[in-house]
Amino acid sequence: MNPIYCALDTTDADAALGLARRLAGLVGGVKLGLEFFVANGPAGVRAVAAAGLPLFLDLKFHDIPNTVAGAMKGAVALAPAMTTVHAGGGGEMMRAAVQSAGEAAARAGVRRPDILAVTVLTSIGPAELPAIGVGGTLLDQVKRLAAVAQEAGVDGIVCSPHEVEELRRLCGPGMKLVIPGIRPAWAATNDQKRVLGPAEAVAKGADILVIGRPITAAGDPAGAARRILDELEAA
Ligand code: C5P
Repeated sequence: MNPIYCALDTTDADAALGLARRLAGLVGGVKLGLEFFVANGPAGVRAVAAAGLPLFLDLKFHDIPNTVAGAMKGAVALAPAMTTVHAGGGGEMMRAAVQSAGEAAARAGVRRPDILAVTVLTSIGPAELPAIGVGGTLLDQVKRLAAVAQEAGVDGIVCSPHEVEELRRLCGPGMKLVIPGIRPAWAATNDQKRVLGPAEAVAKGADILVIGRPITAAGDPAGAARRILDELEAA
């Protein structure tokens, strides 16, 4: 299975669809997030999905369980392969998300998307933890939230390159680990502070690699995706 999901971080639905078409066969899927969704809505998501690639719908739900359950029904109607919730919403919220997704998928006759939990955003550094009421280290908090997420029955965790080994140990082989912050040696790091090469990430236990600008900002996006895929196959 091709582990590369290309993050299409744009508000331009035509550009996203164009990229998705060019990347077909070279990536395992594409990721659309809040930036795209707020600008283009479900219709925009359907338009990009028409390129035929599996979809990671990264909407990071975080609300009371009833609201997340309702939102999840709408997300499942777009037939994503994966979607996200914030583990900080708690076990009950995550259980409601998994259950609602299962019911909606069964009704629609589609496969239930994998529900992934986001633990601590990588934009939050250790210095900020006390201000948001978190004691202990950042890794402690990531592990605590990952354990709550696993207990709630989610299928995977979105985690930084820093955390992947530790979470693989903690969660075991059945948990899908989805990793952004991936940079091939030849690509710019941009604003990512902790990066890992694609093959290294897979070696440390990553299942899915979320890669944006190394592909989307390349002069030849399909060529960049092919180069990453070749590196993975050679590893
Ligand atoms: O362009 P780049 O490869 O940095 O894009 C990474 C993608 O992964 C972006 O869509 C970004 O929002 C997302 N992401 C991240 N770090 C996280 C969670 C998601 O970079 N902790």
